[in-house]
Amino acid sequence: MVFASAAPAAAAEPQNGKDIATRWCASCHLVDRNQTSATYQAPPFGQIARTPDFNQNKLAFLLLMPHPNMPTVALNRAEVADLANYIRSLR
Ligand code: HEC
Repeated sequence: MVFASAAPAAAAEPQNGKDIATRWCASCHLVDRNQTSATYQAPPFGQIARTPDFNQNKLAFLLLMPHPNMPTVALNRAEVADLANYIRSLR
């Protein structure tokens, strides 16, 4: 059956992206509208979402070159897609 054969991780899931952001990024970035504190150096995800050229490829590229003090996060492509979709949803 076609539907059953799709791996769950391959589907773009904004909620999954939010979980990833909360787990890996929230210590420095404001990752959702209700979050009130983060480090002042890191741009809020709502601002990153409005960067004109923001997309999944750019996010994947940025994550390959971790920014200052950011722990290396190993995310697979489906997870980066979910994260990018989630960030875009904050626009
Ligand atoms: C230890 C703190 C820290 C963590 C954790 C962190 N960031 Fe950042 N991030 C920063 C800081 C500080 C900046 C701004 C400085 C810079 O751009 O180098 C930044 C900038 C960014 C930018 C904009 C970069 C650019 O050049 O436009 C993106 C996108 C980003 N972070 C994504 C993420 C994602 C996604 C995660 C979680 C997987 C994450 N960050 C986790 C500190 C952090």
